[in-house]
Amino acid sequence: MTTSSDLIAQLERLGGQFAAAIAPLVDEQSIRAAQAQFLGKKGQVSEVMKELGRLPPAERPLVGQAANKVKDTIAQAVEERLQALITAKRQADLARTLDVTLPARPVGGGHLHLLTQVRLELVEIFAELGFSVAEGPQVETDWHTFEALAIPKDHPARDMQDTFYIADEIVLRTHTSPVQIRTMQAHPPPIRIVAPGVVYRRDDDATHSPMFTQIEGLVVDEGVRVSDLKGVLLHFVNRFYARLGGGLDVRLRPSYFPFVEPGVEIDMSCGFCRGSGCRLCKGTGWIEIGGAGMVDPDVFAHVGIDSERYTGFAFGMGIERMAMLRHGVNDIKFYYEGDLRFLDQF
Ligand code: PHE
Repeated sequence: MTTSSDLIAQLERLGGQFAAAIAPLVDEQSIRAAQAQFLGKKGQVSEVMKELGRLPPAERPLVGQAANKVKDTIAQAVEERLQALITAKRQADLARTLDVTLPARPVGGGHLHLLTQVRLELVEIFAELGFSVAEGPQVETDWHTFEALAIPKDHPARDMQDTFYIADEIVLRTHTSPVQIRTMQAHPPPIRIVAPGVVYRRDDDATHSPMFTQIEGLVVDEGVRVSDLKGVLLHFVNRFYARLGGGLDVRLRPSYFPFVEPGVEIDMSCGFCRGSGCRLCKGTGWIEIGGAGMVDPDVFAHVGIDSERYTGFAFGMGIERMAMLRHGVNDIKFYYEGDLRFLDQF
């Protein structure tokens, strides 16, 4: 038969057992679990207390006191163990030596997109020749985009640059040439600007995108000649493609753009194969890089510049194409997909 001293002894043993049980535990969760195992409804202390009813009433308070005592002991053991863990962790933190001279872990920072890098570089190259930067809206009037550039409504040249119409007289500009018009309207000569920016066309293949970027150049002054255009282009190709080793030549091949007269296609000598023939120059030794020409007097008339006094040249080039050639990018879509495996290379 169970006696009160049996129960009291059992309870006292539980205190010691509990302390032993949590001694190896190193996290609060398992310590709390152990606590529940001893004190919970089905815990070992409760099991002992179930026997209480079998004792003569006079002996029960003694056992109750012992039970309370073991509960206190357990609570205190939990507190002490948790405190010990906190202290141990703090000490481990402090003991860890901190070497402030170690190089910092690199933060995965971003960088400018290849097209942005190239655009800024182009601006810098032309700035060396005294060009400043001009900009214009991407949503343009038909007049600035076409009419003022001597491309009237029924002109076949509109087909080459068919664009997106916002309204009858409002388009997404198909080239940066309207910035020529805006600049000439706003400033009297001398003018020496480059206009980098986004343009839109109904084009879509490996080398054409419906949205791409161009850089336009415009020089207007007294006595500006084709040789000035050629000199600027020579400087540009040899600076921009400097890694090809210099000595690149420029060829102006007769072509047609309504707003220039004469109009030319700009070719640079193929620095990739040095003329022996390669994929980039399609075996011709020359690579087409843009269009140019002397500003047509009709254009001057549209913006009120005296074409008897002033002459000028303009050129336009695709920035994507410049970068494709220099960096061997073989699909224009790589620029816009945002794939870091591509972007991180530049
Ligand atoms: N705007 C022309 C195009 O986009 C390029 C160009 C610019 C040609 C300036 C001549 C002069 O095709």
